[in-house]
Amino acid sequence: QVTTTVEPSLQVAPYACQRRTPLDHPHSALVMALETLAEAALFEGEEARGLAFTRAASVLRCLPRALRGTHELSGLPGIGAHSHRVLQEVLEDGVCVEVETVKQSERYQTMKLFTQIFGVGVRTADRWYREGLRSLGDLRSHGTRLTREQQAGVQYFEDLAVPVGQAEAESLVCLVLDATAHLLPNASVTLAGGFRRGKPCGHDVDLLLSHPEEGREVGLLGSLVAWLGEQDLLLYQHSSYSTAAEASSSCRALDRFDRCFTILRLVLPTAGTRVRAWRAVRLDLVVVPHSQLPFALLGWTGSRHFERELRRFARHEREMVLNSHGLYDMRQGTFLLASSEEEIFQHLGLDYIPPTLRNA
Ligand code: CTP
Ligand code: MN
Ligand code: MN
Ligand code: MN
Repeated sequence: QVTTTVEPSLQVAPYACQRRTPLDHPHSALVMALETLAEAALFEGEEARGLAFTRAASVLRCLPRALRGTHELSGLPGIGAHSHRVLQEVLEDGVCVEVETVKQSERYQTMKLFTQIFGVGVRTADRWYREGLRSLGDLRSHGTRLTREQQAGVQYFEDLAVPVGQAEAESLVCLVLDATAHLLPNASVTLAGGFRRGKPCGHDVDLLLSHPEEGREVGLLGSLVAWLGEQDLLLYQHSSYSTAAEASSSCRALDRFDRCFTILRLVLPTAGTRVRAWRAVRLDLVVVPHSQLPFALLGWTGSRHFERELRRFARHEREMVLNSHGLYDMRQGTFLLASSEEEIFQHLGLDYIPPTLRNA
């Protein structure tokens, strides 16, 4: 009589919003390989291919234990033939030749550099690449025309390339809390984005502003931006305001909150006088009416892939449309209200996933 101990097989739900994805996981080499190919595909404008690699990487991020070999890949959802080959190669050889070739290519390195500039997307980076530009110095020496946003991105490139740390994020929250306390008593300031998911650092800080009495938040963005300007803390800002007409025609993919993308002068706590006393950091401000706050919080906490999967799940599995303003039930023809993120998950018939497990 032979008894075999069967390893519990890895069970992975098909949608990332059905899975618990912590920040730390035992597959960083595998995830990095797939995410490099995802990024490279997006640099070539190949969205579908990029998404396929992103999906595969996200599946590896959520595995509750380390893979015991390539044989375990076959039971997992979302691992296509190409991803499977890459993973097998990394598992067996430690590296994947295709990934290493991409990483060393001039094309990938230049696209990565250019898209890292605030205000530069894939299309602009690609145009510059085709014009023969390869460095920030090239942009200057060729007299490349830059938008106001890109000028700021180039000017503060070195500072913005240094990730924002948790202490810096906290001091930005304090700064904004302090300002809003004067401008609009009882206003709330909520940290969203990667920091809410527990990331130790990020490329920016994302803050949602609101007020428990709906309507009182109107005008807050303008006064906050003016205040930051008066304190000489605004190095760059780009605000957009939702008009009443736009705000009422909800159910769109892009959100229509009053928002401001900024580069801020963050004053550093330094002892000596010879040290430069500030550095540039990116801060995103979004003003949200109280009744939409749970939806905005869910939408602005990320990760981007988790958000994409929530919306895909809502549409394809529930016939609902989810965005940062609300949840629309197409079968009932009504908007579903929620006073917390938990209630939104309930409406969708999903187990609640806390922010720290949304690192899909
Ligand atoms: N977001 C959005 N609309 C935008 C920009 C961002 O809804 N115009 C949402 C994204 O979906 C994401 C969240 O805001 O979920 C945070 O975006 P971002 O700051 O780009 O990413 P983070 O996850 O915070 O990563 P990082 O730590 O690098 O900032
Ligand atoms: Mn292929
Ligand atoms: Mn962020
Ligand atoms: Mn952001």
